[in-house]
Amino acid sequence: RALVVPGGIWQRLDVVGETGSTNADAARAALDGVAEGLVVVAEQQVSGRGRRDRQWVSPARAGLTLSVVFRPGVAVAEKDWPAAPQRTWGWLPLLAGVALREAVQRVAEVDAGLKWPNDLLVKVDTAWGKAAGILAEVSGDAVVVGIGLNVSTRAEELPETNGLPATSLLLSGAKSTDRDPLLRALLRSFGQWYAGWREAGGDAEMCGLLAAYREGCATIGREVRVLLPDGGELVGTATDIDSDGQLIVRAVSGSERRVSAGDVLHVR
Ligand code: BTN
Repeated sequence: RALVVPGGIWQRLDVVGETGSTNADAARAALDGVAEGLVVVAEQQVSGRGRRDRQWVSPARAGLTLSVVFRPGVAVAEKDWPAAPQRTWGWLPLLAGVALREAVQRVAEVDAGLKWPNDLLVKVDTAWGKAAGILAEVSGDAVVVGIGLNVSTRAEELPETNGLPATSLLLSGAKSTDRDPLLRALLRSFGQWYAGWREAGGDAEMCGLLAAYREGCATIGREVRVLLPDGGELVGTATDIDSDGQLIVRAVSGSERRVSAGDVLHVR
């Protein structure tokens, strides 16, 4: 199929037929010293990884399955990019979500929302379902961000989930389910947001990322039940996202708590 010509920050686009996990492939390339801006796209991924040791199942050619390599801690003199401090790197999967939402809304013309921290939701009739997941992993001084988007997946091909029902762009009434325009739009938006975030030294507020995330976030204003790794459960209303990308939850008692993406097992 026709290849996307990467531009901007994208240095190289590898399209592979079948692989275990594009995140694993990108992480290996990162350890081997590949430059920032590598994109690995797979036609079929047979052992896709999800968050919290879950699997990510995607039927061949029905989705977009890709991973990218960033080196946010490395200053780039010719672009005037300072190093982004490590505490800001948690924004990268959220940034990917913002870019993915823009691409899906533009190309597929469906309404999409972000479930904090990084699931992409689309509407099937009136109910939200999960159409994409994002997994960021640190590999040496690189961050690999992987995206799995169900594009033309049919209902009977969707994996069982125990949380939000899985869905696809096709099932949400997408105007187009061509993967190449989606990939192009995604890489364009992703590259632009990344460049802006790097210019701002990883400051999500300064580059407008926090505002864009807030705007796209379907979790804010909703009742949430957050399962914490210490076994605790936090029930309340999600009121906002703070400048570190944490979710602010107001408990029924009125007390406020901030939860970070790494500290939650589950949000409902
Ligand atoms: C989740 O929702 O749990 C995250 C799913 C992330 C799946 C993508 S598909 C491309 C990349 N390679 C992987 O092995 N996982 C990510």
